[in-house]
Amino acid sequence: MALYKSNNKNEPGENTRAIHHGKSFAEGTGCVMPPIFQTSTFEHGNIEGFDYTRSGNPNFKILEKVLISLEGCKYGTVFSSGVSAITAIAASLTNQDVILCEENLYGCTIRLFEKIFKNYGLEIISIDFTKTSNIDKISELKPSMIWLESPTNPLLKIIDIKSICGKAKQDNIPVVVDNTFSTCLLQRPLDLGATISLLSTTKYINGHSDALGGAVLTNDKNWQDRMIFSQKSLGLQPSPFDCWLITRGVKTLKLRLKQQVKNASEIADFLALNPLIDSVRYPFRSDHPQFHLAKDQMKAGGAMITANIKGDLEQTFLFCKNLKYFTMAESLGGIESLICHPSTMTHASISSNRKAKLGIGDNLIRFSIGCEDFVDLKDDIQQSLNQLL
Ligand SMILES: Cc1ncc(COP(=O)(O)O)c(C=O)c1O
Repeated sequence: MALYKSNNKNEPGENTRAIHHGKSFAEGTGCVMPPIFQTSTFEHGNIEGFDYTRSGNPNFKILEKVLISLEGCKYGTVFSSGVSAITAIAASLTNQDVILCEENLYGCTIRLFEKIFKNYGLEIISIDFTKTSNIDKISELKPSMIWLESPTNPLLKIIDIKSICGKAKQDNIPVVVDNTFSTCLLQRPLDLGATISLLSTTKYINGHSDALGGAVLTNDKNWQDRMIFSQKSLGLQPSPFDCWLITRGVKTLKLRLKQQVKNASEIADFLALNPLIDSVRYPFRSDHPQFHLAKDQMKAGGAMITANIKGDLEQTFLFCKNLKYFTMAESLGGIESLICHPSTMTHASISSNRKAKLGIGDNLIRFSIGCEDFVDLKDDIQQSLNQLL
């Protein structure tokens, strides 16, 4: 898998940058791994300028430095979860501001916007950004912010980030791209013109399903200042221990992704041939509706697959439950494979009408492909499908 190379020839490669996190804030000890700075407060006037962990901690700084380096950007702020990172951005807007969203977003992003921020006066408009005519609506609607995911959760729609950012730039509209499904190793939203690249570091960045985190990456100093302000004033900071775990997890991001992407592309092809599967969506399969855009925008197709089973809700659940190596669970991006039923899990908070309109039906399943051996995953899927016969 050819991943991003640095624009700077003198810069070390991605594995090196992920592994060598730099300053450990423990100079003189020779420690190879940084300590966990499990402290709520710091002595006034210390050289590094820390004061209270809600507004900064060495473990935050270490993780931010790695993420900034991998993303190839100027600024980064870490948060306690992906949802905290989303909150930090949305809370920077004011009463009557309008967020123009891609209609298919992670369920809890929609819930946060519709059920919380709407109450504080934000207006939310959702459109299908795969339609070119809707991209043209940006200049007409002139929103305060545009919010995208690509690939989207769970339908894996590919959104044309470059075209949307180009339009948005004409009116100085900031564009946020939730890059959780790809990470900066597969897709670089900031290079495509986005103002902010957002990550739930809970997923691929950490990769071991044992910590929660979020990050906001940007080249815009003004947005960086807002993120630091949100972190401390809303109490959205992560724990030092979670940052330490994520700093350890990210060291193997590229290695993990290589195996996951390889597995996923083979599993997608295998599923597509199976008579009990109605349809499969994987960005780098030629039958994906935005295949050419995906090839253009992404370095690889990622490790998420969405499929429709030929069956009803009961059979779909049976399939999920009978899998041995895929745990039926929320979340994604870990080394262990997971299966999810979006309609009743990640997108349970979305109204039935909206789910029906989007195409999140009873027989839709979402695979997060892990690092296991392909043959074991394939055989597991086959044995579970066989039980539906
Ligand atoms: C695309 C996307 N963004 C954000 C989040 C939220 O992340 P977290 O669970 O770390 O709050 C998720 C969680 O599944 C997600 O899939």
